[in-house]
Amino acid sequence: MTSQHDLHHSADHTPGQEWWRSGVIYQIYPRSFADHTGDGLGDLSGITARLDELQELGIDAVWLSPFMTSPQKDAGYDVADYCDVDPIFGTLEDFDQMLQAAHDRGIRVIVDLVPNHSSDQHEWFQQALAAGPGSTERGRYIFRDGKGQHGEQPPNNWQSIFGGPAWTRVSEADGSPGQWYLHLFDSSQPDFDWSNEEVHEEFRRILRFWLDRGVDGFRVDVAHGLVKDQEFPDYTPDPEAASMGGEQTPAPYFEQPGVHEIYRDWRKVLEEYPGDRALCGEAWVSSVASMAQWVRPDEMHQTFNFEYLLAPWEAGQLRDIIDRSISAFGAVGAPSTWVLSNHDVVRHATRLSLTGENPQGTGIGPDFPGIPEHQDAVRRAQAATALMLALPGSSYIYQGEELGLDEVHDLPDEARQDPTWFRTRGEKYGRDGCRVPIPWEAESPAFGFSSSGKSWLPQPGRWKSLARDVQRQTPGSTLNRYQQLLRLRRELGLGAGALQWAEGWGEGVLAFRNGDALIIANISGSPVELPTGAELLVSSASLIGGKIGPDTTVWLRQ
Ligand code: NOJ
Repeated sequence: MTSQHDLHHSADHTPGQEWWRSGVIYQIYPRSFADHTGDGLGDLSGITARLDELQELGIDAVWLSPFMTSPQKDAGYDVADYCDVDPIFGTLEDFDQMLQAAHDRGIRVIVDLVPNHSSDQHEWFQQALAAGPGSTERGRYIFRDGKGQHGEQPPNNWQSIFGGPAWTRVSEADGSPGQWYLHLFDSSQPDFDWSNEEVHEEFRRILRFWLDRGVDGFRVDVAHGLVKDQEFPDYTPDPEAASMGGEQTPAPYFEQPGVHEIYRDWRKVLEEYPGDRALCGEAWVSSVASMAQWVRPDEMHQTFNFEYLLAPWEAGQLRDIIDRSISAFGAVGAPSTWVLSNHDVVRHATRLSLTGENPQGTGIGPDFPGIPEHQDAVRRAQAATALMLALPGSSYIYQGEELGLDEVHDLPDEARQDPTWFRTRGEKYGRDGCRVPIPWEAESPAFGFSSSGKSWLPQPGRWKSLARDVQRQTPGSTLNRYQQLLRLRRELGLGAGALQWAEGWGEGVLAFRNGDALIIANISGSPVELPTGAELLVSSASLIGGKIGPDTTVWLRQ
């Protein structure tokens, strides 16, 4: 067993060999992973109890979505106390135990940090409300007087990413209508003012709090949004852009140049600590070339490759984004990351087979046209995963994708909890469909998610056959394939390798070498011959008459 001390001191720290350059990071969405206390919401002790399964899967690290004290208006992305655990998830002691248990299994732990905004229940925001206009307390957030004769109009036209205006007016202490505060997300998520040094100081303290406990890094929420254009100009977003960013011309609240100074400062904080601690930015910006600016040598270590996530299952577009990613990130000495699913997007076991539009953050509902057949969609998803895991760099996996879970598009309206659903008055379904608690045991209540049988979102009956215990016993199951891919990826050193395209495989086929492996992804509609003399290492689906069928990726040694 590796101890916490070992992971930070004795791992390979040679520059260029750090774990985050090639590691596979598994995203745990704590409220939907495993419920130990039986209240229908997952918790930290539930994670600890299931770490053996993650070790068996063969991942290198976990990233935990927020579990800090929060009124849960945005599933924990509304933090009221950055240095404590919300009682629904457990205690700091439970966190320490989980961290130690993960490290004992050689699994690193990354926690989510939400620096763009806090909860309106955060002590600072409550103080700001009480203290009134012009006070030091208000200076930690973005309060402005309204426009119009009596300040009755918001300071500008910015819209919340979840729908509706991005400004909310407060009542002052005497009950009169007062100033407005900015919230790029829900009104319960006021934005911090990062032009205030006190905010910087506070976040250095928060980073050190978790680093002292032994975490291996941070996933940084809305990493492109902290700094706002100080002119606060009116702005209407590009309707084509992803909802959390990605406009061709940056919005005045995203991608502002000043944001990079913050991460240069944080990197220095991480470097005060032994071992390779990492920062991974959630920056929804327009292209990998822009994303690469977040991972210059003195900034973050990784950033999510959302352009890859958004790419359709089409050979030409995939090859293009793979090339541009390797080149853009390579140019700044950073690894590319690869990701297909997370808690904000339609699960890729559904998404890659959809014909209708499904913009990021919007979600899909029961009326969505063309919901694919599960078996076909999972086949495609597995081919996509086998392609992704063969690419050099670091890959992210979202809990449940190793089971082939599909998007739960048919949740009843009354079960939905995403603020997007409420703020758009049901016009956008939001992200609940990818957040449903995952199935562990086919025959247990709530499929083993919770001993009480409770589940904060209802699980579809069709997931019974996808439960982990069933898949463990089934040769060729999605779970067994993920496990096989992860073991081979490690043995072949693919994450730390290099990609060289192999030409001549025809339209709709992507073929490349990475070290000793030849990878062929058949994205076309027709079967493809296996090359002669090649040893088949793994195939994402059974071969058809000895050929690589459509929507199948194979790893070969030749
Ligand atoms: C991005 C997170 O991934 C998402 O879930 C959250 O709602 C927003 N940031 C706001 O924190």
